[in-house]
Parts: sequence; structure tokens; C-alpha cells
Amino acid sequence: MKAAVFHKIGDIRVDNVDDPRIEKPDDVVVRVTSTAICGSDLHIYDGFVPQMRPMTMGHEFMGVVEEAGPSVTKVKKGDRVVVPFSIACGQCFFCAHNLQPHCENSNPEKYGPEGDMMDNKGGGLFGYTDLYGGYNGGQAEYVRVPYANVGPKVIPDGLADEEVLFLTDIFPTGWAGIDWCKLKGGESVVIFGSGPVGLMAQKAAWLHGAEKVIAVDPEDYRLEMAKKVNKVETLNAHDEHLMDKIRDMTGGRGPDAAVDAVGTEAERSFLEKLKAVVNLEKGTPKVMEWCFEAVRRGGSVAVLGVYGSPYDNFPIHRIFDKGLNISFGQSYVHKDFAKLFDLVKQKKVALNDIITHRLPLSAASHGYDIFKKKEDNCVKVVLKP
Ligand SMILES: NC(=O)c1ccc[n+]([C@@H]2O[C@H](COP(=O)([O-])OP(=O)(O)OC[C@H]3O[C@@H](n4cnc5c(N)ncnc54)[C@H](O)[C@@H]3O)[C@@H](O)[C@H]2O)c1
Ligand SMILES: [Zn+2]
Ligand SMILES: [Zn+2]
Repeated sequence: MKAAVFHKIGDIRVDNVDDPRIEKPDDVVVRVTSTAICGSDLHIYDGFVPQMRPMTMGHEFMGVVEEAGPSVTKVKKGDRVVVPFSIACGQCFFCAHNLQPHCENSNPEKYGPEGDMMDNKGGGLFGYTDLYGGYNGGQAEYVRVPYANVGPKVIPDGLADEEVLFLTDIFPTGWAGIDWCKLKGGESVVIFGSGPVGLMAQKAAWLHGAEKVIAVDPEDYRLEMAKKVNKVETLNAHDEHLMDKIRDMTGGRGPDAAVDAVGTEAERSFLEKLKAVVNLEKGTPKVMEWCFEAVRRGGSVAVLGVYGSPYDNFPIHRIFDKGLNISFGQSYVHKDFAKLFDLVKQKKVALNDIITHRLPLSAASHGYDIFKKKEDNCVKVVLKP
């Protein structure tokens, strides 16, 4: 079959690889009908998350069950399914506590309690390197889905692929950012990053009853998209008076909540790059720090953007002085799926309005290239195998 395979930094291309097959009794093989490229995939593409051997990419995918192992009871051949990005056994302590990204069984080689940089990681993820289980991903014609009684969610006919595809990751992720900030209605929220995750967080903020939503990004075309699809206010991240403007828009205090939907690969100056090399840091924590600066005293910060290294001079003093509530981490797709699927089914939210590129799987290299370089006004690429 054909699959988008990571070879080395900056080199993801479509190869012929072996077809996946049932390896364990509770596996299914899914024929992929739609799959998307995520900002998290760029961390592998750019070498921030290392991968030493070729591996099929992709953790946002859906399709039709082609073959089911003998102990699969929750789905059957022919079912149309959406598959959450994290791989969970459904049985362990963490699965029992609805903390599926921390599953103890899906990443046997590299799992551990410590959360180190290169070991002691969380549960398995599709197409996300040997650090997270070494599973081949869904940017392919077919994909093996383990623990098929836990992950795949059956989608009824009548909803197009593009209406539900982002339930695999980015909508639950944007939702988590707002949910973690415990919005009750009437709040102001600033969201740094207006890529796919930021755009989903904007939608989630309105769904939680926010009164004001401000999007910040250095790319004007992404801010235009935010205004068009989500009717938010916008500020360019290059604005010299960014923090003052955010405060001016929020009663002088700052917003009740701030979301980091950027992560470690935020735009950086040469000096910031140099500092990272000297300190043995990866990328920069600057957007997370902007969240702490921008948010009001006693407010909440949710960090959705990925960070993979420690940082010196972390502004813990500010967090203490302002009494901030902070949440980090992978989103809980399994936990929130039913609720979020209902919102989509009842047309309370549209997720497909952020798609800018629909490409055949064979054009995956090009898709990665324009998404990474932000060319051709690219915001979200959907690949069709
Ligand atoms: N927590 C999770 O479960 C989860 C799930 C999916 C994605 N993510 C992470 O979320 C982040 C965003 O993902 P995405 O798909 O939207 O990727 P993306 O790379 O398209 O989006 C990042 C956006 O941040 C903008 N940006 C760069 N520097 C900035 C700055 N200083 N201020 C404001 N904006 C800035 C970029 O222009 C871009 O629009 C990534 O780190 C990704 O790995 C996390
Ligand atoms: Zn993702
Ligand atoms: Zn588990």
C-alpha cells in the first residue's frame, strides 16, 4: 500500500510499504478515507521529536473497518469509524480514570512515570515515533488500529468525513484548553496561535459562553481566517504593544483565560535560537510565558502547544505572584468524544471551515511543505488516500 513515511528531518514522502495486518485478537485494520496533517506532525518533520527509523506518519484519520480480529466486539467490518489519536487499552489505572493518554499498556518500550525527554513517556500515539510506541500512523491507505474495543468510534451515515475528521484530535484539543480554564460564561479569552488548534480553541471558547475571544498570531492570513470563520478579534503577534493592547481590550486587567496553541516551535529571533543552543533547550517557551504575562491575576492558563525540554529562567515568580491556575498536556479525546460528537451532529459547531487544502495522499510531501512554510495561505491539509 501507499503511505506517507518519515525518513529524516524535512523528508516525508509517499512510499510503497507492507499492508498492515491483524497482529492481536483485538486489532482492526481500517481503510483510510480521510487523514490530516497536524502541527504536532511538524515537530517530527522538523526534528524536535526525534525518530531514528522510517515510520508512517499520521494520527488524525478515519475510514472503514476492513478486517476485525476475533475478539473485537464494538466495531465490525464495514463500519465507518473515527479514531482518537492516543492509543488506550481501556483496562489500566489511567484508562479507568479517563486519563487515556497516560495508558500504562500501549507504549511498553518507553512508558514510565517520570516523563523524561527520551524515556518514561506516556501512552502510545499513532504515527508518533518510537518514543510513543512506534505505531505506524494513518497517513496511508490502511492502518492497524490496536485495542479496537476502546478507540474507534462508529460514525453514522449522513455526516461527511470532513465534518467529523477533526474529532480525532484538534477539536477535542481546542476544547480541552477552554475546559481546563473552567469557563462558566461571560469570560474574556486570549488564544495565542491561530493555526488549526488555536482555531478550534476559538470555537470552543464561544461554545463555553465566552464574551470576548482574542486571537494572536504573526501570520495575517491566519488571523483573517479566524475573523472569517470564528468572528473573533485579532492582534498580530509582532505588535510592539501586544500586551498593552490585550489589557486595553480586557478592562485593563487582562483576560480571564489564556491559551497557548503554539508550543515550542514559536517564531524565534536569532538571539533566542542562540540562547536555546547554549542552554541545551529545544525551541522556546516564549508563548507560554506570554500567556502568564497576558492573563489577569488569579486567571487560568492552558498550554496545548507541545514542549519537550526543560527551560532555564522559567518565570515561576510571575505564576506565584499572579496566583495562576495552569494546565498542560495532551487532550482527552476518549473522554470528551461523545459530548463533542453531539455538538457536531446537532450542528452547534462546524469544524470543516478551516480546511484550505484537499490533496491526494500522493501529494503528502507537498502538503507538509506548504503547511510548514505557511505558503499558499495553508491552514489545514486533508489528504485523501
Ligand atoms: N495538547 C495536545 O493534545 C495537542 C494536540 C494537537 C496539537 N498540539 C500542539 O498544538 C500546537 C499547535 O498546533 P497546530 O496544528 O495549530 O499547528 P501550527 O503550527 O499550524 O500552529 C501554530 C501557530 O502558531 C503561530 N505562532 C508562531 N509563533 C507565534 C507567536 N509568538 N505568537 C502567536 N502565535 C504564534 C504560527 O503562525 C501558527 O499559526 C503544536 O505545538 C501542536 O503540536 C497539541
Ligand atoms: Zn494532532
Ligand atoms: Zn490503559
